[in-house]
Amino acid sequence: KRRRLMAPDITARKGGEPIVALTSYHAHTAAIADNHCDFLLVGDSLGMVMHGYESTVPVPLELMVMHGRAVVRGSKRALVVIDMPFGTYEESPAIAFRNAARVMKETDCGGVKLEGGRRMAETVRYLVERGIPVMAHIGLTPQSVNVLGGFKTQGRTVDQWAAIEEDARLVSEAGAFAVVLEAMAAPLAERITKAIAIPTIGIGASPGCDGQILVMEDMLGLSPNVPKFVKKFGAIGAAIDRAIGAYAAEVRARTFPAPEHTYSIKEGDSATAAP
Ligand code: KIV
Ligand code: NA
Repeated sequence: KRRRLMAPDITARKGGEPIVALTSYHAHTAAIADNHCDFLLVGDSLGMVMHGYESTVPVPLELMVMHGRAVVRGSKRALVVIDMPFGTYEESPAIAFRNAARVMKETDCGGVKLEGGRRMAETVRYLVERGIPVMAHIGLTPQSVNVLGGFKTQGRTVDQWAAIEEDARLVSEAGAFAVVLEAMAAPLAERITKAIAIPTIGIGASPGCDGQILVMEDMLGLSPNVPKFVKKFGAIGAAIDRAIGAYAAEVRARTFPAPEHTYSIKEGDSATAAP
């Protein structure tokens, strides 16, 4: 039996075969993605995708734990990483440890992810030294949407590059096992990938990153509005619409359920004798 991947297995892939990742929030889709992915991220994007929030800011820790458990149960081989939601780790390394330890204990996941570079480097080190693998996330950090004024691409002008490169270097030196680069100019993502010792996982970044991640519902073609960096590899939304339309039509026509979907009375029994 092949064991589940662990954070150091992902780190060891630096510069090698690209790391394949998707978000996952749900047991059955986790089982399918587990056949293809090196790690599954229970992203706080689940607040928007599964629960209809306008941003990831309102997501509670409990929701991450509930979906995290489902994904751990549904998968066997991929590393499962769970996002720390807004407000559960920024205040201090000690508070971050308490909340991240709760996520690890209650879900049995293999690591957590948090947003921030320089500002979170001390916290990354604190968690890793105490047994919690941390994936960092820099570039566009969606939990800061209210400060940024929208979901904006980062590093479009070269004068912004030094600060973002510094974010990458500091989380790498602090012991993060990998770092997500979200929505940034492609040449900057390539430069960071060459400069740091840990794998970069791109989303709207560059094919030169050490791996790629997308939100599963976005790449499947289920999400109604997706950013430019999403390629739709499927058309699941249209498939669901067709299937539900066919069901509704058959219910209205009384052609569903058909005889093969219904139960008859037992042999020797009589319908007229039924109570
Ligand atoms: O929440 C999320 O889905 C993420 C990925 C897109 C990196 O953080
Ligand atoms: Na996230």
